Amino acid sequence: MLITLEGIDGSGKSTLHASLKDLLSDLNPLMTREPGATWVGDQVRRAIKEQIDPITEATLFVADHAAHLAKVVRPALAEGRLVISDRYSDSRYAYQSVTLQGIVPEPETWLRAMHDGWTIIPDKTFLCVLPIDEALTRLKPDSQREHFEKRETLENVQNNYLSYAKAEPGRFVIVDAMLSPEIVAKFVADAIRVEWETGKKKRKGRKK
Ligand code: TYD
Repeated sequence: MLITLEGIDGSGKSTLHASLKDLLSDLNPLMTREPGATWVGDQVRRAIKEQIDPITEATLFVADHAAHLAKVVRPALAEGRLVISDRYSDSRYAYQSVTLQGIVPEPETWLRAMHDGWTIIPDKTFLCVLPIDEALTRLKPDSQREHFEKRETLENVQNNYLSYAKAEPGRFVIVDAMLSPEIVAKFVADAIRVEWETGKKKRKGRKK
């Protein structure tokens, strides 16, 4: 089963990811992330830092996803494991739709087409949502920010995310990231547990 965590920078997604590891330790989940689960991710981080052109950056994120799927996600799912990824394909759709605006004609269509047919769609995606002002106060000072972490970018990225949640209400669960980290983590851990148990029953039913 594949679970993904999404949200803008400063939404507390990485803290949530760390808490889930503890709260769900009895399920032995494979905790992973994008970018960075393989060496391709190191190149992505370099591209972000050096601000290479947006198409190079976007295709590197996609390359990172391909390597992540091949080396980490697919093998774990084949073993029947619970996989929890901090960011995944929706990050690309939400962020690169913004960075590629005016650079490719229809960024989101282009990005989705690049994933179609080989990516694995998550079973559930938890989207951490909060006011942009709050996200910005949680981030590092201006000078050390990645280029994504600007008010306008984050606003557009969060709006993109919300439109995906609206389009796929069965997959997305919106999480109020203004709640305390403990409450958020407990809520998400409980919801994953329910998914996992339901999935287990379904898998058993299929074997009969
Ligand atoms: P992340 O590691 O989640 O942020 P941090 O290192 O600050 O915890 O991701 C790094 C940045 O990359 C973040 O601003 C979001 C962006 N990103 C994209 O633009 N597209 C993508 O496909 C992914 C996975 C991340």
